[in-house]
Amino acid sequence: MIEAGPPNVDLARVVKLADFEALARERMERATFDYLIGGSWDEITRAENETALRRRRLRPRVMLDVSSIDLATHVLGRKAAMPVGLAPAALPGGTCGGAEVPVARAAARAGIPFCISTFSVCTLEEVASTGAGDRWFQLYIQKDRSITRDLVERAAAAGYRAIVLTVDIPVPGTRERDVRNELPAPDHFANLPGSEAHGQERDAFVRELNEQRLSWDDLSWLASLTDLPIVVKGVLTGEDAHLAVEHGAAAVVVSNHGGRQLDRVPATIDVLEEVAAAVAGRAEVYLDGGVRRGVDVLIALALGARAVFIGRPYLFAVSVAGEEGVARALGLLGAEVSTAMALLGISRPADITRAHVC
Ligand SMILES: Cc1cc2nc3c(=O)[nH]c(=O)nc-3n(C[C@H](O)[C@H](O)[C@H](O)COP(=O)(O)O)c2cc1C
Repeated sequence: MIEAGPPNVDLARVVKLADFEALARERMERATFDYLIGGSWDEITRAENETALRRRRLRPRVMLDVSSIDLATHVLGRKAAMPVGLAPAALPGGTCGGAEVPVARAAARAGIPFCISTFSVCTLEEVASTGAGDRWFQLYIQKDRSITRDLVERAAAAGYRAIVLTVDIPVPGTRERDVRNELPAPDHFANLPGSEAHGQERDAFVRELNEQRLSWDDLSWLASLTDLPIVVKGVLTGEDAHLAVEHGAAAVVVSNHGGRQLDRVPATIDVLEEVAAAVAGRAEVYLDGGVRRGVDVLIALALGARAVFIGRPYLFAVSVAGEEGVARALGLLGAEVSTAMALLGISRPADITRAHVC
């Protein structure tokens, strides 16, 4: 379980995002750490997300005025303090106070969007009650469409600014670490009153709730339920990106679910340009998967993303040091983006171009 209390680590000694992973590995229950870090089957895609980003090289320009660096950008028409957001994550259990609430507070302090999962530990209303902040709600379409409709209405009423429809999990990928650890499902999911696991294992519970019979018409149906912008998360091809936009998506997230769904799909950075070309400016394009450094953020921007989202790094940060841990992680990432921008010869995210990456 994630049970973050007050910081119990010396955050001054945490100097990069990966340090949180090492601390979590030392301190967390093995099954919880495995749930967070794990990918599906051989975990090839999970690893590849990071290595593919690390293979890319930058082309800096020199003798440019970088005396004033501004990380701010706009996502879905709202200002974000940097081109980074926090990706949705279904947590393995624990109490609300140690989960999305501290994350939401840290994201609001940092001025960036935070997306909570349908399968969050806190209810979407509890997260909203933390005060101001740019919050998005990630939706899994439920077999029971009235529950789906209800979730969308609740999110709008609670002030969420976007619905993020995750489309890459018709069935859960097989994460063998969880199988080996016999990871149980929570008794119920906080946002789904009436959901009862009845002792099932986690994947079976998710399968029971999530709709497997989806088509692009369901995106149009979803759009008819709400005025909120819809972000389609989990697109890896130009064809699907095009269809998402045609059916009303305001943005697409190039994502392979952090390598937790179909193993052996490409690293997200390697398909970003294909997706950006298919979208052709008609919607915003974001990327997640393997972003661990400020330079990763800039490489994604150069190849067509407006912003990136991070997953595991903030989950490890909240698990070892609560809100302050997430704040530290975001502070470190922002500082890296800023330094990298100066060294690359750009002052604003919008200045980065394809020519900055080899
Ligand atoms: C523990 C965990 C739970 C996740 N749960 C969800 C979820 O409920 N909904 C969703 O759309 N994506 C979920 N994801 C995927 C993330 O939103 C994101 O795509 C991925 O973590 C990005 O890769 P990264 O962890 O390498 O940054 C989850 C990821 C992790 C690690």
